[in-house]
Amino acid sequence: MNKSDDISSFFSPKGVAIVGASQTPGKIGHEIVRNIKLSGFSGGVFPVNPNAENVLDLKCYGRLSDIRAEVDLAVIAVPAGLVEGVVRDCIEKGVKAAIIITSGFSEVGNKELEERVVSIARRRLRIIGPNTFGVFYAASRLNATFGPGKVLWGKTAFITQSGALGLALMDWTTEEKYGVSSIVSIGNKADVDDADLVEYFSRDPSTSSILIYMEGLRDGRKFFEASRRAVREKPIVVIKAGRSARGARAASSHTGSIAGQDTIFTAAFEQAGIMRAEGMTQAFDWIQALNENPVPKGENVVIVTNGGGLGVLATDKCEGLGLKLAELPNDLKDEIKAITPSFGSVKNPIDLTANADDVLYGKVLDIVLRRRDVDCVIALFCQTANIDPILVAQAMLDARDRDILEKPITAAFVGGHLSQVAYSRMLEKRFAVYPSAERAVDAMYALMARHRQLEKFKGGGELR
Ligand code: COA
Repeated sequence: MNKSDDISSFFSPKGVAIVGASQTPGKIGHEIVRNIKLSGFSGGVFPVNPNAENVLDLKCYGRLSDIRAEVDLAVIAVPAGLVEGVVRDCIEKGVKAAIIITSGFSEVGNKELEERVVSIARRRLRIIGPNTFGVFYAASRLNATFGPGKVLWGKTAFITQSGALGLALMDWTTEEKYGVSSIVSIGNKADVDDADLVEYFSRDPSTSSILIYMEGLRDGRKFFEASRRAVREKPIVVIKAGRSARGARAASSHTGSIAGQDTIFTAAFEQAGIMRAEGMTQAFDWIQALNENPVPKGENVVIVTNGGGLGVLATDKCEGLGLKLAELPNDLKDEIKAITPSFGSVKNPIDLTANADDVLYGKVLDIVLRRRDVDCVIALFCQTANIDPILVAQAMLDARDRDILEKPITAAFVGGHLSQVAYSRMLEKRFAVYPSAERAVDAMYALMARHRQLEKFKGGGELR
């Protein structure tokens, strides 16, 4: 790798300087220092501001060159007119990476300033931004953002072109217990772009999947080539906004992106092996299933439910998405028939009926998970008066723990308050659980898509 291609200093720096660090709570330069301190980053933290002695009990330096220790990352939060000078200081100091928080560049038509900054850096200094809220990287305990101070660690690297949406999602991933390995607000992509990050995260041991919110691309070829290589290692899910003509116009005025013809994007995503989600809900559903499950070894899907209706909805959804519901062999049917009510169904969906309790759920899940002719299981639950959802949740969690053949399972909990509690508990235990049968099936579809992709690679094939 060319030295200038190395962007690891954004994620694992030895020392971080915050240029424009402020003593005033609420100012961006203050909040970034606070987040870096709070997150427990173990490297050096150096506020820089000629007008302050210290910031949040840290000694403050007048200029970067006053810092004796090594600084490989600078977070720049001074007004746009000062950024060029600070970038020159960064190069003089030997800083390798700069996150330019400052707005007022190409996103408002000030292209020349942005180009000047990039040309000064000339890849001796790599730049994320300008116009970014920063970078969070869990493995280094580094929260170099002015977003929420508390972020739940997880397995997904989230790259976002939208600042406000990214900030909101940063909070939301914690609230919804998804967690992230990293968040990168990519800003104007003046230097580091989606392709560089996809390449980096495909090799990052703390990341299992990559999620991108994208409005447009500057260099489509570079991105699709990087992604084509990366999907061999990890799944990539993209939310590409601007599907409609109006949406594309909105993207253009939001980040200055050329959204491009949507059908071309769709085809290119497919060719590169990128999974394109309709929107946020689907993207996070997919990511959750992909993170928390092994990839299916085959295509045989079995549905287990205590509600006939939920089973029918799930079947329709499976059919629509091209998921194959397994024909259950007679010996498997007999084994289940022996323990289920006579009015249940041992076809696929297996309907345990509203009489089913957690013990029966556990037993039937064990039976199907032990079978080599079953590849994945969708477990559906409808809340009824005679059954405690929390016990069923525990039965599903226990069955997963006993699943020595490592099959993927997605689940749905449908019902009132107690179902919500059960659902939350399962999320906490990192079970791919959803509030509807359709979403549990759609999540399984993501796993199956990944299976099919990996099969093509195994066969030495390229993606279409
Ligand atoms: N080196 C270091 N610090 C310097 C400096 C220099 N050469 N010159 C001035 N400073 C200090 C200032 O004294 C100030 O500190 P203070 O609060 O102690 O006075 C601090 O840097 C910030 O400068 P200030 O002029 O107060 O700017 P600001 O904080 O109001 O705004 C930005 C700076 C970067 C936040 C603002 O220009 C901006 O771009 N905001 C939008 C950011 C954004 O939304 N990004 C995209 C998110 S998705």
